[in-house]
Amino acid sequence: MILRNLLTLAAALVLTAPAAAELRQFEMTIEEVDLEVAPNFTYKVWGFNGQVPGPLLHVKEGDEVEVVVQNNSTLNHTIHWHGTYQTGTWRSDGVPDITQEAIEPGDSYTYRFTADKPGTLWYHCHVNVPEHVGLRGMWGPMIVEPKEPHPLAEKVTKEAILMFSGWNPEVADTYGEGGHPNEPISYFSINGKSFPMTQPLRVKEGDVVRLRLIAATIPVAFHPHGHDALVTHKDGLPVEHPYPVDVLHMAPGERYDVIIEMNNPGRWITHDHYEHHVSNNGKAPGGAVFIIEYEGIEDDDWYVWKDKEADPDFYFSESMEKPFGLHDVDIFKGAYPDTRGRGRGRR
Ligand code: CU
Ligand code: CU
Ligand code: CU
Repeated sequence: MILRNLLTLAAALVLTAPAAAELRQFEMTIEEVDLEVAPNFTYKVWGFNGQVPGPLLHVKEGDEVEVVVQNNSTLNHTIHWHGTYQTGTWRSDGVPDITQEAIEPGDSYTYRFTADKPGTLWYHCHVNVPEHVGLRGMWGPMIVEPKEPHPLAEKVTKEAILMFSGWNPEVADTYGEGGHPNEPISYFSINGKSFPMTQPLRVKEGDVVRLRLIAATIPVAFHPHGHDALVTHKDGLPVEHPYPVDVLHMAPGERYDVIIEMNNPGRWITHDHYEHHVSNNGKAPGGAVFIIEYEGIEDDDWYVWKDKEADPDFYFSESMEKPFGLHDVDIFKGAYPDTRGRGRGRR
């Protein structure tokens, strides 16, 4: 009887599901690399696949996800899949000494879970979080496409993912230090880069851009000039009544999906409205700033980003168009240090 019910259920699933859940297997490593955050400011990070943010993990709701994580660094780590429910798979929740033993240097651990929560999620290390997540770049985006697409999503012509974080220059060169309350965080970044090393978001009139905003490690007051942003999702789930904002406050860990209709051609700064978040160690301009550039607007001679060669995947826009999978992004890769120079000041 139970078997027959199961078979009927399985048959029903095959018949009704447009695309059945799939087992998606990935491998990720943890690497010790030097990340250029701002001009002349390099940071020792632990990068998933050697990059910050980590690679885009893009799957469909209901997929079975398996990630083998290999620790090639000199300290212990885990991965927590922030937002997933881990129903029946609590040992894949990634919390050291509670759901697993931390992954020691040279070891690996296999996480296996169902992508049971749709939307904009993220993943991060859960060992010594104030340092590993707060300062050393151990975070990346995880996007789970919902089985039922949101009605507003149909209009979207371009996707962008923005992860906000801060940096304490005093411990940039020393693994194992930092992560204290009242830490002097004085660099601020989007996808691991501070202005002017952030990239323009290039759009054309008529585009409808979905920005998936992830306040990874710092509070953020996200502010686009010239446009309202329509809030459609909070922490991956749709809000009952989408609402327009021109400043969106996010606490660390929070995610908001917003949709911006590109209907106002020009060059528009978009920035974190915490005043000191738009400077690099006290020098403005800098920090969590980028510019929305409309196609067809001529560069003026004095334009700060005149002739800038933009990387079109800086906001994962190209990676989001690839088939489901785990996608590395070259511009986020750190450099393996010259071991002879290890520990030498690089600032
Ligand atoms: Cu870690
Ligand atoms: Cu978390
Ligand atoms: Cu402003």
